[in-house]
Formats: sequence, C-alpha cells, structure tokens
Amino acid sequence: MTIQVLNGPNLRRLGLREPQIYGSTTYPDLERLCAEAGKRVGRSVEVAQTDDEATMLGWLHAAADAGDPVVLNAAAWTHTSVAIGDACAMLTAPLVEVHISNVHKREPFRHHSYVSAHASGIIVGCGVDGYRLAIEHLASLGVS
Ligand code: DQA
Repeated sequence: MTIQVLNGPNLRRLGLREPQIYGSTTYPDLERLCAEAGKRVGRSVEVAQTDDEATMLGWLHAAADAGDPVVLNAAAWTHTSVAIGDACAMLTAPLVEVHISNVHKREPFRHHSYVSAHASGIIVGCGVDGYRLAIEHLASLGVS
C-alpha cells in the first residue's frame, strides 16, 4: 500500500507563510523530504495538497477504499470540519495526524481536532520533521 501524505489548506505556501511559525521549508522541499523518507524505509509515498475540502474528502475516501495508511495535516480543517473527521473515521489503515506547529501552544481554537479521535498517532510541533517521523512510524507498523 502507498502511504498517502495529505495536506490541507494553505500548506502549499510553506516557506512563505508565517515562517516564524511554520519555518522556511517550502512545499516542494516537503515533497522531497517525504519521498526520501519513503525511499529510506522502502515504501511508496504520495504527497498531495489541496485548498478544496471536497477534493480532500475524495482523497480520504480513496485511501479508505485502497486500505492505504495516511499522514494527514488537515491544517485549518482540523479545527472546523466534522466532514473531514467523519472521512477519517472511515479509514481502514492507520492514520497519523501531523501539525508542523505546536497547536496546543497557540490560540484556543487550535486546541480541538476533529481528526485526533480517529488517529493512531499524533505528531505536533516537530516542524516538517513530523512528516518523516510519521512515515517511519507507519512503515514500522508493517502495514503493507
Ligand atoms: C497546522 C496548524 C493549524 O492550526 C493551521 O491552521 C495550519 C497548519 C500546522 O501544521 O501546524 O494551517 O496544521
């Protein structure tokens, strides 16, 4: 199975977007980082980003149907979207929720996640390195 790394709104602007919070790594850098992590652990990895919630729901449905493990940074939808949470509930392979920043150190509205209840693990505040950790963790579970 392919590890699906799915990114929600505004994450294509990594490196440009509030670098004091999200760092200077760009989205193409993030794609490379995930591909390299996948190569190291011998797993195929696909990385995608969308600002369109319906597209994200479609990707989550496809991952559920394929039995693919998912690394999800749902960005702002984490805190707002029951629909994204419901789609995560349908996943059949492990889900790791990632946030680049430590959302618990930030505004109270970022403290609640509709994703967390459906995640097998959560990586928060480790910067973009959280994606590498998530890919390595999923590979270590031996889900294939
Ligand atoms: C984020 C945290 C969210 O609160 C925010 O809306 C994002 C990015 C993170 O990776 O730290 O867009 O998910």
